[in-house]
Amino acid sequence: MSDSTAGSPATGYLVPTRQVRIADLRSKKAEGKKWAMLTAYDYSTARALTQGGVECLLVGDSAANVVFGYPQTQQISLEEMIMLTAAVVRGSGNALVIADLPFGTYEASDEQAVLSASEMLRRSGAAMVKIEGGVRIAPRIRALVNAGIPVCAHVGFTPQSVNALSGFKVQGRGGDASRLVADVHAVEDAGADMVVLEMVPADLAAQITADSTVPTVGIGAGPGTDAQVLVWHDMVALPADGRRPKFAKQWATVGEDLTAAAAAYRHEVEEGTFPAPEHCF
Ligand code: KIV
Repeated sequence: MSDSTAGSPATGYLVPTRQVRIADLRSKKAEGKKWAMLTAYDYSTARALTQGGVECLLVGDSAANVVFGYPQTQQISLEEMIMLTAAVVRGSGNALVIADLPFGTYEASDEQAVLSASEMLRRSGAAMVKIEGGVRIAPRIRALVNAGIPVCAHVGFTPQSVNALSGFKVQGRGGDASRLVADVHAVEDAGADMVVLEMVPADLAAQITADSTVPTVGIGAGPGTDAQVLVWHDMVALPADGRRPKFAKQWATVGEDLTAAAAAYRHEVEEGTFPAPEHCF
């Protein structure tokens, strides 16, 4: 156990005993210690995930799909993201909370990016924003950092540009590797404090991680990044019949358990066996 973690009385898992800060994650990189990030979109899930010792929660715009059921991540609004992020912050304990700026809220100008990010941080209490893009978005990162807003960049496969990228494809293969490396350099030079690498060949992600000064967070980028992130639904198989990306592993079968619980509840209500005497006043 490190001096900044302790066993949670509720669960027994190691949890941070003080607020996790960006500097702590940089220190972990320097010490070669890996750490875990998961998405979260509501108060109760944020509590459960951080009680498991997860140091960093991402309110991803994947909420568009898994919370709102929109077919595209582009459809979620800043307002919807702020409401979800504020709920996650309230349940996040000592974890660092990062919020995605959704599609269409930062690309047009530096001013738009600063206004959207300030609104997000002011109303939700998140510590950092994440925006997608490399070289093309570096000026926005610089503007945000100059405004005092910490930024996590997201390069490789960037879901907000799924149409421009012609679908869900691994990025940085073959001749495209140098473009990805240039993207990482650009966001680092612009002042990003963290970089998400999505669907990138494992050896390239490991090389980028070794060369970069800021923590890298992989999703479909192999084991060589400083940290890993997954959409929490993917790591617990929710819903039971959902499509899972190749890079996600399932540690629980929450979708199946929830469906079985709903069926058992319905059955007992229909039979009249629930509520039982112990559930009555
Ligand atoms: O929106 C999201 O959940 C993300 C992660 C997949 C990195 O951007």
